[in-house]
Amino acid sequence: MEQLLAQVAQHKLEILAAVVTTKDELEVFRVKYLGTKGLVKTIMAEMRNVAPEQKKEAGALLNAFKEFTESRFQQLLDGLGLQEQSGTADTDLSLPGYKQAIGSRHPVSIVHNKIVGIFQRLGFTVAEGPEIEDDWHNFTALNLPQNHPARDMQDTFYISHAEEGEKDWLLRTHTSSVQIREMEKGILPLRIICPGRVYRNETISARAHCFFNQVEGLYIAEEVSFADLKQTLYFFVQEMFGDKVKIRFRPSYFPFTEPSAEMDISCLICGGSGCNVCKKTGWVEILGCGMVHPAVLENCKIDSNKYTGFAFGMGIERITMLSYQVKDLRLFSENDLRFLQQFSAAT
Ligand code: DAH
Repeated sequence: MEQLLAQVAQHKLEILAAVVTTKDELEVFRVKYLGTKGLVKTIMAEMRNVAPEQKKEAGALLNAFKEFTESRFQQLLDGLGLQEQSGTADTDLSLPGYKQAIGSRHPVSIVHNKIVGIFQRLGFTVAEGPEIEDDWHNFTALNLPQNHPARDMQDTFYISHAEEGEKDWLLRTHTSSVQIREMEKGILPLRIICPGRVYRNETISARAHCFFNQVEGLYIAEEVSFADLKQTLYFFVQEMFGDKVKIRFRPSYFPFTEPSAEMDISCLICGGSGCNVCKKTGWVEILGCGMVHPAVLENCKIDSNKYTGFAFGMGIERITMLSYQVKDLRLFSENDLRFLQQFSAAT
């Protein structure tokens, strides 16, 4: 019954909003709503599914709907007659208009735009690459040859396994593949960020998803140092989270960088004194980074004696969760309007 009420209300709105300016349009209206296979007949047939004790109420509702539709038809017909006689439209121009909902930007897009904006101000340009990648760009060129144990760090969705002389196709597991594509073009110096969607064969939970977004950064030139990397990321954090936030680097391992590090920021919730979000440590990890491994440069035919570079990669959802204190990653892909409408349309 409740469903029927909602349906009728929805159809009424639709019928009220129908605009008819010609006889042909009026005929379309009649067939659609009052014809033998029209909506009124169809919805009347719903009576069959109504529980016996609700038949009376449903009958009254549907009869009223039928009358409503017929009288709207009459009204449109009269309007058309008037229009034909006087040439004025069947629209009362003094009525207030219908408010159009303009929607709001997705929180991940808001943060994506903010991250891109910050790096653009430092002279980085945006580069994009394909989501369906070959093994070379996603792994081998990044210093992860076949059977390298670090391939297990990222559970991969394979599309096809290579036969002799063919390529292995997969869904990219990280945006680091775009680094390779850009370096292979051979135009140096190179200063890019590569935002995009990546895929991993993970069980979906509050903290992991089978697809998410990353932003990769890469700077290759002569005499690029780890100090440049630190300063760039420090600037990013200050712009992103404000100047009270502290950073720290921890040694780490990535096959494509040497040395490698992970960067933490002081917890935005407790300011470093320890809470549930930072698991009482006062720090939260936000990205991986390092100096581009000479083997990666050589794989892209860049002279590693002349050029050096730094790279970093971060998850956009992670930054978004920290920025807005969202505790469950799944909210970003469920499309629940009650969640999405909380984020401003302006940014
Ligand atoms: N590709 C790494 C991942 O998906 C992230 C990353 C770490 C990217 C270090 C980098 C880097 O460019 O230098 O986990």
